[in-house]
Amino acid sequence: MKDRRSFVPLRCAGFCWRARDLVEELRSLRVEESEIYSAIGEEGFTRLVAAFYGRVPQDDVLGPMYPAHDLAGAEQRLRDFLIYRFGGPPRYIEERGHPRLRMRHAPFAVGRAARNRWIAAMNAALDEIKLPPDAEQALRSFFDSTATFLINRPDDLLK
Ligand code: HEM
Repeated sequence: MKDRRSFVPLRCAGFCWRARDLVEELRSLRVEESEIYSAIGEEGFTRLVAAFYGRVPQDDVLGPMYPAHDLAGAEQRLRDFLIYRFGGPPRYIEERGHPRLRMRHAPFAVGRAARNRWIAAMNAALDEIKLPPDAEQALRSFFDSTATFLINRPDDLLK
């Protein structure tokens, strides 16, 4: 029989070690993310979100999901969220409260197709506005994982 007394602490030590590495990694990622606002400023986020929303109305999947009468409002909400999220003033929180992005997307059918269109429009916007490469890469990677996290049609996750 295995000696559980030595086995358990060893496994625990390995786990804690990996967990500590992960925390460190997340911490360094966070620092880098919080520097994005200093690197691109309000102006960078304003150009990015304008280039994204410029593509939304003509997209046959995304267009019908967004409020045609309040695209300017939607643009402002995404811009303020990104500015807050990447180290700028917390206007989004002051006006909208905690982001709760999954909850706020619950009224919309975010399947794999919508997710891919959203990412395609955002990547095209990033191609267009030409940010410093580090900031651009960090934003692409954030959008990619957040958009997947927002899929709320579970069947689509299996495809
Ligand atoms: C996965 C594909 C996505 C779809 C189809 C989608 C769709 C939508 C729609 C239809 C709205 C409502 C527009 C409004 O009136 O504000 C919205 C709001 C919003 N979305 Fe998304 N979205 C997606 C991904 C994302 C991602 C990746 C982010 C984060 C970077 C994001 C952040 C937001 C924010 C901050 C709002 C405003 C929430 C509020 O304060 O009400 N969305 N989204």
